[in-house]
Amino acid sequence: ALVSMRQLLDHAAENGYGIPAFNVNNLEQVQAIMEAASETNSPVIMQASAGARKYAGEGFLKYLIQAAVESYPNIPVVMHQDHGQSPAVCQGAIDLGFSSVMMDGSLKEDGKTIAEYEHNLDVTRRVVEMAHKVGVTVEGELGCLGSLETMQGDKEDGHGADGKLTMEQLLTDPEQAADFVRQTQLDALAIAIGTSHGAYKFTRKPTGDILSISRIKEIHHRLPNTHLVMHGSSSVPQDLLAEIREFGGDMKETYGVPVEEIQEAIKFGVRKINIDTDIRLAMTGAIRRFLGENPSKFDPREYLKPARQAAKDVCKQRYEQFGTAGNA
Ligand code: G3H
Ligand code: 13P
Ligand code: ZN
Repeated sequence: ALVSMRQLLDHAAENGYGIPAFNVNNLEQVQAIMEAASETNSPVIMQASAGARKYAGEGFLKYLIQAAVESYPNIPVVMHQDHGQSPAVCQGAIDLGFSSVMMDGSLKEDGKTIAEYEHNLDVTRRVVEMAHKVGVTVEGELGCLGSLETMQGDKEDGHGADGKLTMEQLLTDPEQAADFVRQTQLDALAIAIGTSHGAYKFTRKPTGDILSISRIKEIHHRLPNTHLVMHGSSSVPQDLLAEIREFGGDMKETYGVPVEEIQEAIKFGVRKINIDTDIRLAMTGAIRRFLGENPSKFDPREYLKPARQAAKDVCKQRYEQFGTAGNA
């Protein structure tokens, strides 16, 4: 059934586990996530970005997820809008039937300029007001996603702050987080701790100076009645990078968020873990391998099948690793 995200995150908090939120853009990704969830008995959060809506079209995304809900009646599914840039975008998603929305007020509507705190409060409050009336969950964001190695905002997927950022901007302030939650009454809060979107997060395996899991603990201590969310949480597995390179891809040396660090974060109150890049890498590796090994094949079903399987393997691993398995 389609459920609110609040319901799933509350259960995760009561039972001390985390839930991966996977980005979806097409049929094979939706199927991969549902098969993995079904085999591990896990609750599902599927999320659509602005880019996903542009690629697939809102209607197609809605009915793909609706098809997943109907095909797996025993698995609770959240249809979440990722990184809504304005209250209007969130209202549109609610009207379309999304059961959860993110109002990302950390940036202005242009997706490049860091928003003042007052602006973030204002837009988030407005979304909470419209969403809660109809039982829809709201995620907000405080702090600016970006790298503590380069002090640059998130750039890879085209939304992220321009220019050099400060430590204060790149790490969510615990006091401000508590104030933000009290004033907005939102359900879930995305925080900045040194992660960024895409494959190029860290130039080395991250240590505490560039990935601040300890900051999560400080934030969680003071936070009333809200769940924490980690964006940019793909682990960028080295074996997937190696597969892509082996079959002609060009991927530079890079590191993601290690699963052990996410497991630590879950102990400190993180309940939703956003993952897109790992599925992209898995599908690309499988497709490159298939076409490399079978140069005469041209039926998309033949290469999308191993791609779907590779995506499913990643999803299953995360459901097991985050303790989601068994909680559907
Ligand atoms: O928000 C970041 C997700 O990875 C979605 O990326 O905007 O390219 O769809 P996208
Ligand atoms: P990754 O790029 O690390 O997969 O992060 C996805 C994300 O945060 C979507 O909102
Ligand atoms: Zn994100």
